[in-house]
Amino acid sequence: MKIRIPATSANLGPGFDSCGIALSHYLYIEVLENANDWKIIHSLGEDIPDDKTNLLIQTALKVAPNLAPKVLKMNSDIPLARGLGSSSSVIVGGIELANRLGNLNLTQKEKLQIATEIEGHPDNVAPAICGDFVVASYVDDEVHYVKHHFPMCDVIAFIPKVQLLTSESRSVLPESIAYKEAVQASAIANVMIAAILNGNLPLAGVMMEKDRWHESYRKQLVPHLDQIRDLGHEFGMYGAFLSGAGPTVLVLSPEDKTEKMVQALEKLPISADINILSIDQEGIQVF
Ligand code: HSE
Repeated sequence: MKIRIPATSANLGPGFDSCGIALSHYLYIEVLENANDWKIIHSLGEDIPDDKTNLLIQTALKVAPNLAPKVLKMNSDIPLARGLGSSSSVIVGGIELANRLGNLNLTQKEKLQIATEIEGHPDNVAPAICGDFVVASYVDDEVHYVKHHFPMCDVIAFIPKVQLLTSESRSVLPESIAYKEAVQASAIANVMIAAILNGNLPLAGVMMEKDRWHESYRKQLVPHLDQIRDLGHEFGMYGAFLSGAGPTVLVLSPEDKTEKMVQALEKLPISADINILSIDQEGIQVF
């Protein structure tokens, strides 16, 4: 059995802790054979455990504590701690592993509920499970969600070669904001979502860049966001936003304008990988 889980990008600017898209980078998990102890064969670096302390196994055992140990193989092209949902992909993979090996027959909503309880918010795990564009809420311990088609575009990922932990990126957020500001922030998010549902990326992109929930607080940690936005305006991009908690910035690009934008991004004096991605429409897949 092989399981494939897409990378994700949470927030899309004003959709903070609520909106996310699935992207065409993947975590792959393969179940090889029975064993006395859990073992994961991977080449993801020495910091990633290869025994049952790995988040994948921890998650699977949380969902189905009596699973028999297996040898697994894990590969991933989702960079770690860059705001592209690497840990969410592992959590979602662990839930699916438990679902299949334990014959649990979990529904999509049950998987999302469990993943959100583990992760804390639904915006990364929901698109990893459902694919495409997902809007989700997690209020009073219950998840509600809607999946919808995301309009066609290229997604340019500007991935700085430094890690930024979500905990650090959340530590700069305020405890509260003023009522009037929250109403404005919510209105901006609502228009962004409605524009996406209408297939209106030019308007969605404008609204993405007006976020009031988190990006202005996080800018101190990601000074390249404004530089990339300026380039985006020059080269006809729809919009740019911080991917999840950063430091990656995603730029939504009309397909015929991607090449010139990438060339401009390559000239920025910041050490980064630049990947041209697309939206994954399927979410988690089991082969
Ligand atoms: N919505 C979350 C954040 C995503 O921006 O902190 C990262 O887990």
